[in-house]
Amino acid sequence: MSSRLMVALGLCLLFGSTAHAAAEREPYNDRYCTTCHGSEGGGNEGIQAPRLAGMEAAYLRRQLENFRAGIRGTHPQDIEGIAMRPMAVKLTDASIDDIVVWVGGWPYVPAAPTISGDVAAGQRLYSNCASCHGENAEGLPSFNAPALAGQNDWYLVTQLRDFMAGYRGTHPQDIFGAQMRTMATTLGDDSGIMNVVSYINTLGR
Ligand code: HEC
Ligand code: HEC
Repeated sequence: MSSRLMVALGLCLLFGSTAHAAAEREPYNDRYCTTCHGSEGGGNEGIQAPRLAGMEAAYLRRQLENFRAGIRGTHPQDIEGIAMRPMAVKLTDASIDDIVVWVGGWPYVPAAPTISGDVAAGQRLYSNCASCHGENAEGLPSFNAPALAGQNDWYLVTQLRDFMAGYRGTHPQDIFGAQMRTMATTLGDDSGIMNVVSYINTLGR
């Protein structure tokens, strides 16, 4: 919890006065996304902003629409989502189109693993995930489930904790998040989360 609070404090110091102005700046495919998400969207653990490069266009679009609509990033305990939401609030549909094209031009580079767990136990848990996310965690667009392989592992951990705690996936309009929340609860506890993510770390894309 204290590291999350430090992130929140850091974000306030960094963006407290400039986030609003940045969100209004045109064109929206300018550089302020990379301030948090890293150059060419590689992810930035210090800010807890995940890798965007390689993200499916439909998933990227839905998350931006959900943040904009307050379907994601409004739960009072969702510190990282609350940091992201102002960046999406001012986006027009045309700006989101631009961002999807812009992000689509960044090279896909798998994130380096940072966490460890019981990979064999994680593999058993992942058998409940493959039907939607794919055998190799490559993502299955027909199930609206994004790729997990190659994503920053610390971000996957945070999301699974958030789904489990109901910080994500409980908004009444969050249809896809609600499906995922049901699945996150099957992981049991934090060691289940660490184990399944350590297995996902072994999957290539
Ligand atoms: C102030 C820092 C900051 C800025 C600027 C920012 N983001 Fe974020 N973004 C975050 C954080 C932190 C998260 C993680 C939220 C969470 O953990 O739920 C995030 C999450 C996201 C997600 C969800 C990823 C996923 O896998 O679900 C997308 C998409 C995203 N940001 C896109 C953007 C785009 C596009 C821009 C520029 C318009 C942008 N962000 C600007 C901090 C930022
Ligand atoms: C019924 C289909 C389904 C199953 C099974 C499922 N998921 Fe998901 N998952 C989804 C969907 C749909 C989303 C996207 C939610 C959204 O759009 O906000 C998602 C999102 C996620 C995210 C957030 C990704 C991001 O970029 O923010 C993680 C992490 C995740 N799933 C992990 C898992 C794990 C681990 C399992 C197995 C325990 C699992 N999922 C099982 C459908 C599923």
